[in-house]
Amino acid sequence: MKTLIKNGTLVTAADAYVADLLIDGETITLIGANLDPALADQVIDATGLYVLPGGVDVHTHLDMPWRGVRSADDFFTGHRAAAFGGTTTHVDFSVQSKGGTLREAVATWQGNAKDKAIIDYGFHVAITDLTDAVMAEIAELPTIGVTSIKMFMAYKDSLQVDDMTLFKSFQMAKNSGVLSLVHAENGDAIEVLTEQALTAGNHEPIYHALTRPPELEAEATARAVWLAKVAGDAPLFVVHCTCADALAAVSAGRARGQSVYAETCTQYLFFTKDDLLGSAEDAFNGAKYVCSPPLREKSDQVALWRGLVNGDLASVSTDHCPWRYEEQKKLGLESFAKIPNGVPGIEDRLYMLWEGGVRSGRMTPSHFVAITATNPAKLFGLYPKKGTLAVGSDADIVLWDGDAQHTVSAATHHSNMDYNLFEGYKVHGKPVKVLVRGQVVVDGDQLLAEPGSGQFVHRSSPLLI
Ligand code: URP
Ligand code: ZN
Ligand code: ZN
Repeated sequence: MKTLIKNGTLVTAADAYVADLLIDGETITLIGANLDPALADQVIDATGLYVLPGGVDVHTHLDMPWRGVRSADDFFTGHRAAAFGGTTTHVDFSVQSKGGTLREAVATWQGNAKDKAIIDYGFHVAITDLTDAVMAEIAELPTIGVTSIKMFMAYKDSLQVDDMTLFKSFQMAKNSGVLSLVHAENGDAIEVLTEQALTAGNHEPIYHALTRPPELEAEATARAVWLAKVAGDAPLFVVHCTCADALAAVSAGRARGQSVYAETCTQYLFFTKDDLLGSAEDAFNGAKYVCSPPLREKSDQVALWRGLVNGDLASVSTDHCPWRYEEQKKLGLESFAKIPNGVPGIEDRLYMLWEGGVRSGRMTPSHFVAITATNPAKLFGLYPKKGTLAVGSDADIVLWDGDAQHTVSAATHHSNMDYNLFEGYKVHGKPVKVLVRGQVVVDGDQLLAEPGSGQFVHRSSPLLI
């Protein structure tokens, strides 16, 4: 099947120009001016639309177990929401069980995804128990298409690792063509502050933010950056960077010439810790905004936008980790420490960034493509199959109406969530059609993909940018 997309404005991280694009099967095979419609079986008229590479979201938690509950989107509902938002590839976190192997973790998550997927997906693996055997496994990960590991510096007594684990993992990853990721917060200090807050009778959601101050993220980020340097300039990717001081630690490493990268997530660009205070009608409503690291101050938002524009932040992910308000967030009614951590956003990333980034004049459409698709695709070994529009790339394509206005709402979103963090935002920018490897998966309001059509992507080693 050959599809010709005509007269759209093709946007890559480098250029934006009007051209036609031919797809043969799953792949882009030709880009040019005035291509003959007779080349194709079907023609899609993209006049007045942008033609974007499908979004790449490298930080999600679908169907994730957490203290007896599971995150509220599985690989079908999460992919459905992603596709309607213009994201065609994501990388989710598989998590090693204590005493388990990394291969088992990846296999478990692959089992969760395989029959449900409608977009393409890969996995990082989070290390929780670093034995000698697991060290050896890190070196083998690229053979199974997994080229990133994650270490949590927080979540004491569950996911958190110590500095020795961090350092040894960095060394082994560096020597194996694997990118090291860190969740950078000082989990020990957070544990102390949490206990003190609860002992003092402070149980409300706002104390989640007050017991995880930005200094503890900045300290952990700086520690990880320095350890990566000593580990032979191990490539390091700091996930969900939220605040000016943590970003400064990343920038300092980059200024020294280290291979240090960071992302932020959509929520940190639009909300502040005041959102955890809840509303007059529902004081617990702030639980909807509980994520780690927590939401910060307006001044941090300013620093994050600046970091995106100047390149110290490589990309924006969602950290989509959805917990339904009624059945799941309310597990923490008596204690902020029991509120499941995480917020939804897999569907909202592109239009929120189009509105806040492109329409506000902060960035060009090409820069928008760089931070939502190309940079993450490069760093996570997906490029040039994913993340760009080029001959030979997968035909993962979004036909994007940059002027379409809509109001974000849980009543119309496509996730399994009972709330939308961006409820009521009036934004511009919406996918008109979304293609995954040449197949139209979203056409206006219609989902056309079958569960199981999404594929696992065997990733290469990071392309350091
Ligand atoms: O609050 C969050 N971010 N939950 C998901 C797990 C993580 O730390 O990324
Ligand atoms: Zn995290
Ligand atoms: Zn996360």
